[in-house]
Amino acid sequence: MQISGSIKETRNQVKSWKEEGLKVGLVPTMGYLHEGHKSLIDRARAENDRVVVSIFVNPMQFGPGEDLEAYPRDLERDSKICEEGGVDLIFHPEVEEMYGPDFHGFVDMTVLPEKLCGASRPVHFKGVQTVVTKLFHIIPAHRAYFGQKDAQQLAIIRRMVIDLDFDIEIIGCPIIRETDGLAKSSRNTYLSEEERKQAVILNASLEEAMKAIEEGEQDAAAIKAKITEKLNTCPLARIDYVEVVSFDNIQPIDKIEGAVLIAIAVYIGTTRLIDNRIIM
Ligand code: PAJ
Repeated sequence: MQISGSIKETRNQVKSWKEEGLKVGLVPTMGYLHEGHKSLIDRARAENDRVVVSIFVNPMQFGPGEDLEAYPRDLERDSKICEEGGVDLIFHPEVEEMYGPDFHGFVDMTVLPEKLCGASRPVHFKGVQTVVTKLFHIIPAHRAYFGQKDAQQLAIIRRMVIDLDFDIEIIGCPIIRETDGLAKSSRNTYLSEEERKQAVILNASLEEAMKAIEEGEQDAAAIKAKITEKLNTCPLARIDYVEVVSFDNIQPIDKIEGAVLIAIAVYIGTTRLIDNRIIM
């Protein structure tokens, strides 16, 4: 397995694989890899001849006062996980390699980033779109793998690839959870023992919503109320948002029909966690 911090070297390697007729899969990450990332790597490994994992904590997608400095990093551990997962190349650039002193190029979008996480993290998706665009240019893979854990991110990247004619296939992969249902996340490491116990409330509230929908509830407001009520039973939980939106355009809907995304963001103590259900 190669590890490179160089844009030029990485691009040349991927190009030469493609010239040999090999299929290349890309898994973009910010590192501190867990089973969620691993599931994307495994899928990429199964569907491609070469797998590239990018590990870059992208400053542009963190707002002022967010956890950029505190974000966990462990390249040695990540390298081991990648090596064991059959990854061929890790792209791990320094910030200076990605964003030169005269950097002015941004990729942004209307409508899709405005609600949910975009409302509470206004610069976040501009930073995600910009870095993912750069990664797609540096690593011109055939396929790129993203988790449904970040459902709005997945919807935005799918839209961006269609609208801006990127020649890459976006593969969405299911959410990997802990045995008690908490969605795996690098940010779970911030939780104290008590917070970790209470964090199961995110998945539990979504489970109740799904049960109500299975029993025939179609009113989005009633679903939101049910989730909110459940979350409010948890003393350490503070709701950022509970939303029921169309998965196609991330706009609020009144009735559960078509492709629906039920998305929540909740602070457990000071740690902001997200979870969701997608109904297709
Ligand atoms: P990061 O949070 O490291 O996540 C990398 C990828 O792993 C994302 O596609 C995310 O949805 C997926 N992932 C995280 N937890 C998961 C879980 N429990 N189950 C399944 N997939 C999971 O998302 C980012 O990094 C960044 O925004 C990035 C796209 C790399 C751009 O900087």
